[in-house]
Amino acid sequence: MRDSAPDIRLERAGVAFDGQTLFRGLDLVLEGGRWTCLLGPSGVGKSTLLRLVADLVPGAPDGRVTAGDGGPVAGRVAFMAQQDLLLPWLDARGNVLLGQRLRGEKPDTARAETLLADLGLAQATQLRPAAMSGGMRQRVALARTLMEDRPIVLMDEPFAAVDAVTRLRLQALAAERLAGRTVLLVTHDPLEALRLGHVVHVMTGRPARLSDPIRPPGTPLRPVDDPALLALQGELLRRLAEDAE
Ligand SMILES: Nc1ncnc2c1ncn2[C@@H]1O[C@H](COP(=O)(O)OP(=O)(O)OP(=O)(O)O)[C@@H](O)[C@H]1O
Ligand SMILES: [Mg+2]
Repeated sequence: MRDSAPDIRLERAGVAFDGQTLFRGLDLVLEGGRWTCLLGPSGVGKSTLLRLVADLVPGAPDGRVTAGDGGPVAGRVAFMAQQDLLLPWLDARGNVLLGQRLRGEKPDTARAETLLADLGLAQATQLRPAAMSGGMRQRVALARTLMEDRPIVLMDEPFAAVDAVTRLRLQALAAERLAGRTVLLVTHDPLEALRLGHVVHVMTGRPARLSDPIRPPGTPLRPVDDPALLALQGELLRRLAEDAE
């Protein structure tokens, strides 16, 4: 990694769309070099919060996003959006190399191909998005995110479109490759959050609030059949169900 991974601080963050306040006065610290996982019902504002860190929210959102080391946040972020945002006219390899091409760097084709192979896409490097399944597209988007090699990584439901076994494999691969980065992962899967997160927050309500940090026992990548994890999963599901009532 080129850069050490700083804390990221959101202070008094607020976003409103069409006069509706999604959240306001929201504080959150993403601990440097650790994974923070964010759970919450559909529409609560998780993607918006993630985009706020990446400075991609339209309008003039309230509050501040700063890095603990005093450096800029912009330029140090790799962002994997909920929609895969692959360019339809580029093949898998071209999409993975897009960032380097846009920056005018020499494309590291060998590294892109290795990443695609690690993600089970060795045979798909020359396929265009229209010829891929949803899960394949999602893996290409993950490869593109890993290719960026940034200290701050934001991922919005990165494993939502793949089967259960592939999902466990991709979680392991992402945990290994992104160890030591400051990661914010949005997911709908409580067990995924508990497996991967150093810290888990639940976002509920409107205006939305964040739960106190939940720190699952042990260290990521935790086994999915760990009884402590399963008990916590039950608790998280209860919290999410209460919010839906
Ligand atoms: N650019 C925008 N303009 C207007 N409304 C928006 C915009 N972006 C998001 N919203 C609204 O803000 C709310 C929260 O959206 P957001 O995408 O953050 O939710 P989410 O928690 O990520 O949901 P999901 O789990 O379904 O992805 C929704 O009601 C959405 O319609
Ligand atoms: Mg979302």
